[in-house]
Amino acid sequence: MLRNQRLNDELENEAADSPWARPRDLVAQMTIEEKLGQLSQVNGGTPDLHDAVREGRVGSVLNEVNVDEVNELQRLAVEESRLGIPLLVGRDLIHGFKTIFPIPLGQAASWDPSAVQCAAAIAAVEGASSGVNWTFSPMIDITRDPRWGRIAESLGEDPHLCSVLGAAMIRGFQGASLEDPESIAACAKHFAGYGASEGGMDYSAADISENELRNVHLRPFKAAVDAGVSTFMASFSDLNGVPASGNVFLMRQILRDEWGFEGFVVSDWESIRELTVHGFTANEREAAKAAAEAGVDMEMAGDLYRRLIPELLEAEEIDEQLIDAMVRNVLRVKFELGLFERAYTDPSKYPEPLNAEHLELARDVAAKSCVLLKNDDQVLPLSKQDLQSIAVIGPLADDGYEQLGTWVFDGDSRHSQTCLQAIHSVVGDEAQVRWVPAMRTSRSRQDEGFALAVEAVQQSDVAILFLGEESILSGEAHCRASIDLPGNQEQLIDELSNTGKPIVLVVLAGRPLTLRNVIDKVSAVLYAWHPGTMGGPAIADLLFGVESPSGKLPVSFPRSVGQVPIYYSKKNTGRPPSHESICHIDEIDGKAPQTSLGMSAFYLDDGFTPLFPFGYGLSYTRFEYRDIEVSSHVAIGERVRFSATVQNVGERAAEEVVQLYVRDLVGSVTRPVKELKGFQRVRLEPCESQRVCFELHTDELAFYNQKMQLVTEPGHFHAWIGSSSEPELWGEFEVVAAS
Ligand code: NOJ
Repeated sequence: MLRNQRLNDELENEAADSPWARPRDLVAQMTIEEKLGQLSQVNGGTPDLHDAVREGRVGSVLNEVNVDEVNELQRLAVEESRLGIPLLVGRDLIHGFKTIFPIPLGQAASWDPSAVQCAAAIAAVEGASSGVNWTFSPMIDITRDPRWGRIAESLGEDPHLCSVLGAAMIRGFQGASLEDPESIAACAKHFAGYGASEGGMDYSAADISENELRNVHLRPFKAAVDAGVSTFMASFSDLNGVPASGNVFLMRQILRDEWGFEGFVVSDWESIRELTVHGFTANEREAAKAAAEAGVDMEMAGDLYRRLIPELLEAEEIDEQLIDAMVRNVLRVKFELGLFERAYTDPSKYPEPLNAEHLELARDVAAKSCVLLKNDDQVLPLSKQDLQSIAVIGPLADDGYEQLGTWVFDGDSRHSQTCLQAIHSVVGDEAQVRWVPAMRTSRSRQDEGFALAVEAVQQSDVAILFLGEESILSGEAHCRASIDLPGNQEQLIDELSNTGKPIVLVVLAGRPLTLRNVIDKVSAVLYAWHPGTMGGPAIADLLFGVESPSGKLPVSFPRSVGQVPIYYSKKNTGRPPSHESICHIDEIDGKAPQTSLGMSAFYLDDGFTPLFPFGYGLSYTRFEYRDIEVSSHVAIGERVRFSATVQNVGERAAEEVVQLYVRDLVGSVTRPVKELKGFQRVRLEPCESQRVCFELHTDELAFYNQKMQLVTEPGHFHAWIGSSSEPELWGEFEVVAAS
């Protein structure tokens, strides 16, 4: 049970400068109540919180961001509790504190680790100015189901993209040193498998084979450990029959034994109590025991550890050495954060939240996160000189709250700059702007506003529609079985498209929506996710060509919800489909014989391709790819080199995300048809070209085999370089055994 927890005797001779020395010495002075206090996290505002802190019954507080109250709690902890142990103050800074950045899925669409790192660093410094020293972010659950409301908080479907961006967020939050007053501890969550919740329904069980778990879902978590993340959060979900908060395999074998994680694990909100609701433990006492033994060090929100561990110790059902190890894990992070030297927060030592620099960065990230999905006849960018009038339609055009997205406890819509405001400021007096919300909310089923909207569009040169989903339709516990545009939005688009005017659809949403019913009725689609405080100016810059769109999809867009899960890195199957081998339901003859339809993996009504693939995104210019070169042979232990020339063959300077994909043709466990292995953002002036180079060590081609060993197997590989997961330019290489 104590596997890979440093036992008390093992630590006896630990050198004074070891990170375990101070936790060890402190634990040695603690009563059992004080130890359990360190393992308890309590919500801010709980009635007897002050007394509890003073008595050492609380080690961490969450959801308290009033700096005076945080300082008072720290004072009680440091000056009035017996051992003076400061508090961890946790908060969900999911995409910003006061300055709200695009939702994480939107940030992932930037494919820009430095932008994502900057956003996290700003969230950290703003949060730290209110006394927050720990955030429950990044969420690095791989998800391939847009019905799941928490896809908004995720970094998408791909383990490589998610690993790189998750690590960037961790670097942003934790900075160069945790001791820096502007750094806060990060938390890799939700460990593990939560993103594969059955049917895309939140909190439902996940069933993932160990091979798939290791090759896909765990990869970003391993990358988080490598990036030095301080804490992990156990997931709510049941993974293969064992809820994560009681999962010894996840938290002892993988996290501690295999990966050597030395921080601490927090439960999710009451997820220890829920072990009994899952039917995994018979009562709260068993739940507390199971979670502690599995490796959950701190209990969020519940009080099972505090109430029941004393009994378990008394009955010798738990060894106090286990509790000591858990407490040391927590204290170590507190020491690393420098809280014993600096428990209080002086906001005047921090930059003002929402300052001009933070807003400018939020605007930059929001612009990079927008994905141009369609642009017929180059309707975008709009030229304000050529337009006399613009119709701005839709309930999301001027709604500072809805553009912020889910998880914005500290965001204030009064600071939002809306799309309508930004359009007014871009066009000034040069064009008339006719604004009609047309619907009360994105879900409205009324159509009273439609006539006015049609009239406005008829009288204007172009219509810009701001449609999609309100914030409340995504996020925790907000899943949808249908992911079409909600309410009467499709009918609105129908009516507006009948005017014959060019229509630009800007979608604000927390997930990929199924756009099939509307895609042919509009000239252009800009997918803006929930873009945050500065969404308006960022989108206006793109619409009017101040910037060229450069976002790429971090997740495949299905044609219909029935295609879910649809993702690019599928297995080939024994019967892979091709465009030639499939047919459509409408083409089938009556009395068609059983085997006449092409015996391959596809849907009769929806084929096998998504509406828009992973990695896809247009620009206002065109990029041409040519001259791929790939090292032909490499031995295991060497590096494979890939390069291609990318040229901007259009007339505008723009950024492109160059993507490298690899396929391992034969494996002892079948390998996906393509895997993202690298990407680079390059900026090219018109006509400019650049040789873009990638290098992969053969270890980066490794996967878990049938014995769950991480191996690179010799053999043949294909490689592609291009602008999406459907690139044309390819080469091949061979990996041979080391001589
Ligand atoms: C529950 C959520 O699942 C988790 O992501 C979040 O960090 C905690 N609540 C705390 O708010």
